[in-house]
Amino acid sequence: MAVVSTETIPVKTEPDVVGVRRHIRELAAKMGFTLVDQTKLVTAASELARNTIIHGSGGVMHVETLNGPRSGLRLTFEDQGPGIADIELALRDGFTTGSGLGLGLGGAKRLVSEFDIVSRVGEGTKVTITRWK
Ligand SMILES: Nc1ncnc2c1ncn2[C@@H]1O[C@H](COP(=O)(O)OP(=O)(O)OP(=O)(O)O)[C@@H](O)[C@H]1O
Ligand SMILES: [Mg+2]
Repeated sequence: MAVVSTETIPVKTEPDVVGVRRHIRELAAKMGFTLVDQTKLVTAASELARNTIIHGSGGVMHVETLNGPRSGLRLTFEDQGPGIADIELALRDGFTTGSGLGLGLGGAKRLVSEFDIVSRVGEGTKVTITRWK
């Protein structure tokens, strides 16, 4: 597998979320993802971008296009916020420390092929999603 291109996009404000959505939609379409898969990626990216802003006090999204036997899109949302004490609990549907529904993380996980969270309390959070074509 080869990483064909990478870019880093700020995720700090609500307009940034709109930009993330548009960017992922365009890139996924250009890569030939089906309309359904484009929507899955955009929805997952949108939830994770909102978490980065709301819970992580802002961060960045790294975008990687993957090529090899299969092509895919990998997105990493990274922040230096408070971190997640219990990742298993955070992934549970309905769990929230905020005012949301607590469906974002679990929902995003179900929409992608691979899902990974690395988080340290007091240091920050990194959520990586990959969708293969
Ligand atoms: N980047 C992050 N930094 C710190 N905590 C996070 C981060 N992302 C998620 N969490 C924690 O995980 C919990 C669950 O996240 P999830 O996205 O499922 O729900 P929510 O954001 O609270 O509500 P919803 O996404 O449904 O509006 C959050 O309430 C928060 O405590
Ligand atoms: Mg959320």
